[in-house]
Amino acid sequence: MKLISKRIYLDYNATAPLADTVQQWLASGALPFGNPSSVHSTGKKSKKLVNDTSAYLKSVFGLQSHALFYHSGATEGINNIVKGFCFQMLREKSEFHFVSFSTDHSCVFAQKEHVELLGGSFHLLGVDKDGHYNKDSVIKYINELSGSVLINFTLVNNETGVVWKLSDIESIKDQTEAKIHVDAVQLIGKTDCSFELSSSIDFYTFSGHKFGAMKGVGFTFANEASSSLFPLITGGGQQGNLRSGTENTLGIYSLKLALKEVLKNYQPEVLKFEKEFLEKSIQEKYGSRVHVVAVNAKRNYNTIYLIVSDVKIDIMLTAFDMAQIDVSSGSACSSGTVKASRVLLSMGYSEEEAKNSIRISLPYNTEKGQAKSYFAKIETVFDRFIL
Ligand SMILES: Cc1ncc(COP(=O)(O)O)c(C=O)c1O
Repeated sequence: MKLISKRIYLDYNATAPLADTVQQWLASGALPFGNPSSVHSTGKKSKKLVNDTSAYLKSVFGLQSHALFYHSGATEGINNIVKGFCFQMLREKSEFHFVSFSTDHSCVFAQKEHVELLGGSFHLLGVDKDGHYNKDSVIKYINELSGSVLINFTLVNNETGVVWKLSDIESIKDQTEAKIHVDAVQLIGKTDCSFELSSSIDFYTFSGHKFGAMKGVGFTFANEASSSLFPLITGGGQQGNLRSGTENTLGIYSLKLALKEVLKNYQPEVLKFEKEFLEKSIQEKYGSRVHVVAVNAKRNYNTIYLIVSDVKIDIMLTAFDMAQIDVSSGSACSSGTVKASRVLLSMGYSEEEAKNSIRISLPYNTEKGQAKSYFAKIETVFDRFIL
């Protein structure tokens, strides 16, 4: 449990606090400042941190033969992949398609306008009420498209916690010619998934701030399919020309420190147990007034996504905030109005249900017995609205 004063922070899918090792490193003041592209020793010190981090990430994820490039986070990483692919297809004068799913993050969804502006086709595939797609239909759909295809899969959904099997994605790769990007942003510290990733997948993107590294840094693995990317950010040709610009050395090294800390402390079985305890306690006490989204699906170990019926959700969210509990909603709030969650609507929920969502996302290092105290806090709010 992360306490920020008396607050309980249960919004780990939005972002995580800085890892202790990152904080200590930054506070030490012993930070390299050289430009990693410089040939002198000061530059080489920075270059070493970048190289150490790259070697570490490749070994943790078992992707030694993939290239690795850094960027400002997954939104940029995904823009690099999608637009890089579109630019390259334009250069090759090939017809091109970008295929995504209705439950993907908005940084994937938002590619539509640019893909179409560049002359490509944007495809949005649906999912069922449990947030799953049909593998055979996807294979058939892709194989019926003419031209070049890039498809995005979100391995662990940020809103629902639904986990898609990497083996299914591998088999889609085997049975189609599509280039595949996996949005792996929500993988670390939240699932039972092995970190050993499949080298047959073309691209994977991660974001540092989701697991305790600094904000504004992320990384993408790319295999030889990187030749199908025309770089989005051009300039000095850094990072094998995949993403120009002087590397964010401190941010990059924070990735290594934070990931090491997660690997050292993560106890998936404890997290799973505590999440299930909390979910069951909520279900038992509030019954049919609270619906757990994707309850029958394979879900991750830290996310509980609830639809609460017959409440004013914006008032309930304010009550959580005043009770010093940080949770979030799948519904975007702008200027005081709550908008229905696009993800829930696409899973077949009604407008009303898609508005009334609350997401609780637990820390990777949740300890035994902690869910009990989370429940006691959450009850203080729910009791006022539900009972
Ligand atoms: C699944 C998923 N993809 C992409 C992103 C975008 O990540 P970033 O904040 O690093 O741009 C997020 C962030 O919420 C996410 O959860």
